[in-house]
Amino acid sequence: MTPYNQQKLTDDVVAAFAETPDPRRREIMTALVRHVHAFAREVDLTHEEWLAGIRFLTRTGQISTDKRPEFILLSDTLGLSMMVVSLAQARASAAGGATEATEATVEGPFYWPGAPDLALGADIGEGVPGEPTFYMGRVTDTNGQPLAGALLDVWSGDGEGKYDVQLAPEPVMKARGRFRTDTEGRYFFWSILPAYYPIPDDGPVGDMMRATNRSIYRPGHMHMQVSAHGHVMLTTHIFVAGSPYIDNDAVFGKRDSLVVDFDQHAPGKAVDGRVMAVPYHSASFDFRLAPVKEAVAA
Ligand code: BEZ
Ligand code: FE
Repeated sequence: MTPYNQQKLTDDVVAAFAETPDPRRREIMTALVRHVHAFAREVDLTHEEWLAGIRFLTRTGQISTDKRPEFILLSDTLGLSMMVVSLAQARASAAGGATEATEATVEGPFYWPGAPDLALGADIGEGVPGEPTFYMGRVTDTNGQPLAGALLDVWSGDGEGKYDVQLAPEPVMKARGRFRTDTEGRYFFWSILPAYYPIPDDGPVGDMMRATNRSIYRPGHMHMQVSAHGHVMLTTHIFVAGSPYIDNDAVFGKRDSLVVDFDQHAPGKAVDGRVMAVPYHSASFDFRLAPVKEAVAA
């Protein structure tokens, strides 16, 4: 086939989608066809390479379950998840405010809805391996107004790099909790210092990472989902400054604005009055939520 006919092939496939009733679906399908064809032409894709790709995607589907979302992991490691997160935040941030909302990042596969509602100051790190850490800060809007009663749903792996869901076939919730900010928009709680850890690497995505000499690790981080009435829900992390892999996150989730110093303290009285018999850390981070955009009148 001459290059001219290759272009005609692309045009014919795009035209085949012309009657798609939903305009957004038509836009997505035709752009997908154009980009996939352009990709094949750019790399001069051979039959064997095409088949290897099909086998890879087939294995990705075969290993996938609700608990093992290998396609999401593939999207994460290709930076597509982070691109979708970033596009969503750019769309929402057009609503305005004196400052930008806190940067969002990937949710990851370890969110477990239904964490216990706890009082401010509670310790979700009890019985979890890892060094004790005090987390505190405020939730405000993008004009700096405190958001009272904002909900923080927090979760992390332990100090050895393992999430509760990875520890047993019937796991018990650990290092998870939901907190509501006080009247000043403040939150505070205890947990552990989360360690860096590998993404699940015993499937096709792990094979891809090894075949391309890529690191499978994520730097230490605490996940937070922050929501408040009338504001865009924020899914983000705070990252441990100086953690191994802080500049080489396997899923491209790290944002500089989310890297936080975890100060070290000798045993003694912590800022919330708790007396610590062992050394501990503290981390302070404020979250800014964007207002929900008003619907534009037609
Ligand atoms: C996580 O942070 O929990 C995560 C995110 C993406 C892929 C694997 C793990
Ligand atoms: Fe994580």
